[in-house]
Amino acid sequence: MSTKLYHNLIGGEWLPSRSGKTFQNINPADHSDVVGEFPASNAEDVDLAVAAAKKAFAIWRLVPAPKRAEILYRTGELLKERKEEYARQMTREMGKVLSETRGDVQEAIDEAFYVAGEGRRLFGKTTPSELQNKFAMSVRMPLGVVGLITPWNFPMAIPSWKLFPALVAGNTCVIKPAEDTPLSTYNLVQTLMDAGLPPGVVNIVAGYGPDAGAPIVEHPGVRAISFTGSSEIGSLVAQRAAANFKPVSLEMGGKNAQIVMEDANLDLALDGALWGAFGTTGQRCTATSRILVQKKIADEFIGRLVERARKLKVGNGLEAGIDVGPQVNAQQIETSQRYVEIARSEGAKLLTGGEALTAGAHANGTFFAPTVFAGVSAKMRIAREEVFGPVVSVIEFDTFQQAVEIANSIDYGLSTALYTRDVNKAFTAMRDLEAGITYINAPTIGAEVHLPFGGVKQTGNGHREGSEALDFYTTWKAVYVDYSDKLQRAQIDNAE
Ligand code: UN1
Repeated sequence: MSTKLYHNLIGGEWLPSRSGKTFQNINPADHSDVVGEFPASNAEDVDLAVAAAKKAFAIWRLVPAPKRAEILYRTGELLKERKEEYARQMTREMGKVLSETRGDVQEAIDEAFYVAGEGRRLFGKTTPSELQNKFAMSVRMPLGVVGLITPWNFPMAIPSWKLFPALVAGNTCVIKPAEDTPLSTYNLVQTLMDAGLPPGVVNIVAGYGPDAGAPIVEHPGVRAISFTGSSEIGSLVAQRAAANFKPVSLEMGGKNAQIVMEDANLDLALDGALWGAFGTTGQRCTATSRILVQKKIADEFIGRLVERARKLKVGNGLEAGIDVGPQVNAQQIETSQRYVEIARSEGAKLLTGGEALTAGAHANGTFFAPTVFAGVSAKMRIAREEVFGPVVSVIEFDTFQQAVEIANSIDYGLSTALYTRDVNKAFTAMRDLEAGITYINAPTIGAEVHLPFGGVKQTGNGHREGSEALDFYTTWKAVYVDYSDKLQRAQIDNAE
């Protein structure tokens, strides 16, 4: 069977990259399976895409917001019909198990319906003027062309978090999907077009970061950049965008802690830890990568955690009965491997996993065994640096206060979880854990689309997606209407 060839989407037309170069999208569970061939774009393609988006902006910004929103609503309805098909394609290109890719498409559906409601809100404010017969208000305005750079771990949900609010606000978009998982973004954008999105409003430029991402960040015609990915690349994006004062929304790493107090429901805490650490093969920015356990229950908790981690079935996410899919590519396996070595050399105790799985059914993919380290101290690199793989560290503590200090002792601040039956500790944690998200008696993963999503410290640069996304995709205009029919000078004519 010949490999399906995909093109860039520019001004409503599917065009090959100007250089003619392509790259392959490979199934991480089976490297002999090529999902498709995609354009390896560069600055020339980005120029075309930005020009098309700029042209479309002139029309799109004038489409009434409720009408823009109707297209999003229809997109949600179409995604519901296509959910199974898109989930299967997503597992094939990204690896995570089918129940999770269904969840990923569902997150885009939720986002579509949530943001569609904004079409009839997009509230501004009215406020009294200090002068008589003068009206004052503030109005949300679109920015123009926005550049969106998205990661491979939520290849439909995260593009939807960016595209939908940008669109409802009247912006037009150039999106660069992650090179490991472009197909899911294609599916999302195709659905938008089938729902009636006019040509040029969303443009796709596929390719690698340095060739296709950097020119979007630097393009003078792009008014703002939203990026989700590593802190390392996020820092580069911010520096380059700063050269022409371009607003940037950055959503980056995490080193998320689940705290388990001795009074917790241990079964629940175990379920949460396993799902938080090994769901999506640990490849979430919200993944649980530190489990902080109170000393009195530590032995029992660790014993049961290891027993259950060993039982997880690792394999092709399209097959029934698989709990943990592959890592997305060989580089991610190398990172997991490297951190296992780092942890060992620091004196952490490897209790299970710690190696790539390469035999039998795993021979053709990039699989890594669910890995648990105990005897970890808060100062070790394994307890501070993001791995983005199925590797979790258990740290023991004596008091609740200590647990909070350890949880806060890192450079990141995305998600945190506390398992306890003590309401006082729950509220203290809610206040004191330094993170954008705190869960009580629930795992660190599983944020819902209609709440703020993002983090503090090196996880982000202060913006939030979800419920607060419009703050990034719009700018304020203050409007004064004087109906007095005379010159009224603020600060002067009404002064005492
Ligand atoms: C991410 O890992 O980048 O809260 C996003 C969650 C998901 C989103 C994760 N809804 O785990």
